[in-house]
Amino acid sequence: MKVLGLESSCDETGIAIFDTESKKIWQRLYSQIERHQEYGGVVPELASRDHVVKAAPMIEDILREWGDIDAIDAIAYTRGPGLIGALMVGASIARGIGWALDKPVLGVHHMEGHLLAPMLGDEHPEYPFVALLVSGGHTMLVDVQAVGQYRILGESLDDAVGEAFDKTAKLLGLPYPGGPQLAALADQTSQSQFKFPRPMTNRPGLEFSFSGLKTAALNIIQQYSPLDDSLRAEIAHAFQHAVVDTLRIKCSRALDQTGYPRLVIAGGVGANQRLRVVLTEVLEQRGGRVYFPAIEYCTDNGAMIAYAGALRLNAGQADEDVFDVLPRWSLESLPPIQLGI
Ligand code: KG4
Ligand code: ZN
Repeated sequence: MKVLGLESSCDETGIAIFDTESKKIWQRLYSQIERHQEYGGVVPELASRDHVVKAAPMIEDILREWGDIDAIDAIAYTRGPGLIGALMVGASIARGIGWALDKPVLGVHHMEGHLLAPMLGDEHPEYPFVALLVSGGHTMLVDVQAVGQYRILGESLDDAVGEAFDKTAKLLGLPYPGGPQLAALADQTSQSQFKFPRPMTNRPGLEFSFSGLKTAALNIIQQYSPLDDSLRAEIAHAFQHAVVDTLRIKCSRALDQTGYPRLVIAGGVGANQRLRVVLTEVLEQRGGRVYFPAIEYCTDNGAMIAYAGALRLNAGQADEDVFDVLPRWSLESLPPIQLGI
């Protein structure tokens, strides 16, 4: 089965084709980041308009490389969660192509796309596993028993990890989205005179809270301003250490609780090098293994939507002849599937 996937939940337009037989992927990705940078965050209306402009030419472009659109068997699009207008663009295009070709269409859960993204690599985990989903909008630990069998073990009560990175980066004068640049700044130094709290680690449970870290950063920045480059690096370093340490503690707890030896890290913050190094060490010590998607599949992309959609479409699932989007959508409400690829 050859599935065309469309991702448009936020500020990336992702188009991909996944072939379930050859397991090959073709993809195109366009990031709107520059467009939103002057506003210091994503402007939903601008995001929707940009998806409208970019998606159709990107589909034409990928088909020039891949082949005839008639050979597409089904279409998958991101149904949610995400920005409603942005989601509507992908849903409308997917449904339009589905009607025109008379092919099935399926709306995919964005976070399911993220948590299945490691399956696109050569070495991928067996089920069950614990997934740590860390993106700009979500932070959650999920017990993944099989495709569609998800139990949320813990979530952030306030800011998502990526959001905390971006807000702290903004305080340090870095452009949106500052997560990767804050990480690069943090990696410039090997020590810091500052120590940030590890929120909610001194009590049992798997919930997270990251908004206090941004406040801790603000207090230090106000106290030490004007900051020179080495102080900025020390603050970034202490912040990154606190975030990664908090995630390490909670991941270890989730692995203890489930007894699983496998951990999957997914979502944009999964690109963070320190997180990768620390969690690799943790799983080595435990005799288990950690799996990361390739960097290109960590942040938003069409391939993960084409893949997750293909699993479900291949198992016979498809939408009714109407379409909608779900800006808020529980991962636990998804139906299981019996067949895998
Ligand atoms: O999954 P994603 O592309 O989009 C959402 O669905 O939110 O994640 C984007 C988030 C942003 O907050 C970005 O700053 C963060 O991932 N991010 C990073 C790194 N690369 C991306 N945060 C820390 N370190 C990184 N290397
Ligand atoms: Zn995402």
